[in-house]
Amino acid sequence: MRIALLAAATVTTLALTACGTTSSPSSSPTSATPVVPTTSTAKQAVAVLASASGSLVSGSVTLTPMGKGLHLTGEVGGLPANGTHAFHIHEKGDCSAADASSAGPHFNPFNAAHGKAGSGAHHAGDMNNLTANADGVAKVDAHIEGVTLGGAAVNDVAGRALIVHAAPDDYASQPAGNAGARVACGIIKVTQ
Ligand code: CU
Ligand code: ZN
Repeated sequence: MRIALLAAATVTTLALTACGTTSSPSSSPTSATPVVPTTSTAKQAVAVLASASGSLVSGSVTLTPMGKGLHLTGEVGGLPANGTHAFHIHEKGDCSAADASSAGPHFNPFNAAHGKAGSGAHHAGDMNNLTANADGVAKVDAHIEGVTLGGAAVNDVAGRALIVHAAPDDYASQPAGNAGARVACGIIKVTQ
């Protein structure tokens, strides 16, 4: 009987080895695509952007839950005329450093690579570039999916930082799109 069991175990091992190149028999469910929470408990937040890195950039952005994410509206001024600027949500709601490095890296609760929102892998905090007009003002009218406002889910952006960069995001370079200095920073504060 003992010999029969050993033989059976050997056959099983061989079978597992044969198909072992594709997946391990005990692959854990945590390696699957994460379930993204969509329920926001807050109705609105505002980020007042103050200059950083010696820039003249400032502004205000209102965030409102909409669909599977948030809608952002507002204005950023003091930019170079007709420039293009990276715009992200960063992990920490701390704009205290002169260069806003205190805000940490891009908000990335699902451990993704940096990229372009809406097309393949990207950080939860990645958004499209802002474009300034001839007066150096960029109108913000953006939608970001996959994040919530309030409720403390893993993808909750309340209390995190909104940042404008000196250069455009190339949507490819790691870890932050080669976007240059942080020229404005504001903490996302729930108002309603
Ligand atoms: Cu950024
Ligand atoms: Zn990113």
